[in-house]
Amino acid sequence: MDVDGATRLPRHIAIIMDGNGRWAQQRGLLRHSGHKAGVKTVRSSVEQSVKHGIAVLTLFAFSSENWKRPQKEVSLLMDLFMVALQREVKRLKKNNVRLRVIGDRSAFSEKLQQRIAAAEADTAEGSGLVLQIAANYGGRWDITQAVRSLATKVKTGQLEPEAIDESLISSELSFNDLPDPDLFIRTGGEQRISNFMLWQSAYTELYFTDAYWPDFDADAFDRAIAFYSHRQRRFGMTAEQVGSVEK
Ligand code: IPE
Ligand code: IPE
Ligand code: MG
Repeated sequence: MDVDGATRLPRHIAIIMDGNGRWAQQRGLLRHSGHKAGVKTVRSSVEQSVKHGIAVLTLFAFSSENWKRPQKEVSLLMDLFMVALQREVKRLKKNNVRLRVIGDRSAFSEKLQQRIAAAEADTAEGSGLVLQIAANYGGRWDITQAVRSLATKVKTGQLEPEAIDESLISSELSFNDLPDPDLFIRTGGEQRISNFMLWQSAYTELYFTDAYWPDFDADAFDRAIAFYSHRQRRFGMTAEQVGSVEK
């Protein structure tokens, strides 16, 4: 599909990949089949992002709250993450993608932590799309670790409390070197943030679709981009002000 004459593309797209379980249940399958089917959609989203020249794609794969799921599902998700990291590296390199995992990885098994580090190292030369996988990530966790780091600097005398401003807080967050997300997509019909990037999405355009993640194909991805291209981002200004800047 043509992206509807889109001229403005998002630099950073962040996606809550939701609806795998319901996709599977609807077919009389176990929830895990939905997660497996979702890996294919990850692949197609990466391909679409590369095709459009998107700078950053962040995918929410496992939240800091998802540990509350049945132990069996959690461990199957960890296995799937492990296998996908191993299998996809070659394809990522071919597409010039740099992989990065954000979130508290210390909670993962030693083996998974090593696999993550290896996949990051293997793709470190990628100069195209940055693919961020948010795993054991939570927006509140991100802000908490930033605050803790700043508090430590104050305690050791490296920082005056008065020097703490928004940009300093931003600089302590998980991906301080990348732009904030321009477009947020959530599949699966729910219209909530579920503790994703709270600070960084202050001005992100929100797009919700009923499609379950395994059904979110290339056309659906392009429709989300087309939606974005029609938004006027005002950042607190009036439509007239923004219009005169855009001209
Ligand atoms: C999202 O799909 C994947 C993860 C949270 C890991 P869900 O597993 O939440 O699917 P639904 O929402 O139950 O359908
Ligand atoms: C959000 O989905 C997290 C991920 C997609 C990884 P959930 O399915 O866990 O969100 P809630 O619990 O419905 O809000
Ligand atoms: Mg869900």
